[in-house]
Amino acid sequence: MATERTFSILKPDATRRNLTGTINAVFEENGLRIVAQKRIHMSRAQAETFYGVHRERGFFNDLVGFMTSGPVVVQVLEGEDAVAKHREIMGATNPANAAEGTIRKMFAESIEANSVHGSDSAENAATEIAYFFAGTDIVG
Ligand code: CMP
Repeated sequence: MATERTFSILKPDATRRNLTGTINAVFEENGLRIVAQKRIHMSRAQAETFYGVHRERGFFNDLVGFMTSGPVVVQVLEGEDAVAKHREIMGATNPANAAEGTIRKMFAESIEANSVHGSDSAENAATEIAYFFAGTDIVG
């Protein structure tokens, strides 16, 4: 295992319910360090580009609408095996399938309003981090 970085988003359903600190505490308790973080309101263009891989999916328009419906917190998390660790802590995309104790099981409202996003590979993490952060924004 190596120290690596992953990209995380606290989604509009989480910021709306003031869960930023609660979810961050779960990350920190599990050994992930928040090395960059900012609260933004994504533009439609930003969300469409970020989720471009899903452009052909039936849920794309709803997804973009949801992700631009309120503020989000974009983050860089660092730790041992951070990509896999973060995904384990988040739980399955659909909260109905998420394991007990995971963030999505505890907090997600639906498959769309599922509280958090996390990169699915180290390669995608690097791309997603670079989309929102300059290297100088990240303090390890
Ligand atoms: P996320 O990890 O942010 O990546 C794409 C998002 O699309 C996913 O989390 C879900 O919140 C959202 N989504 C909405 N509907 C679906 C669906 N039917 N299947 C997969 N993802 C969906």
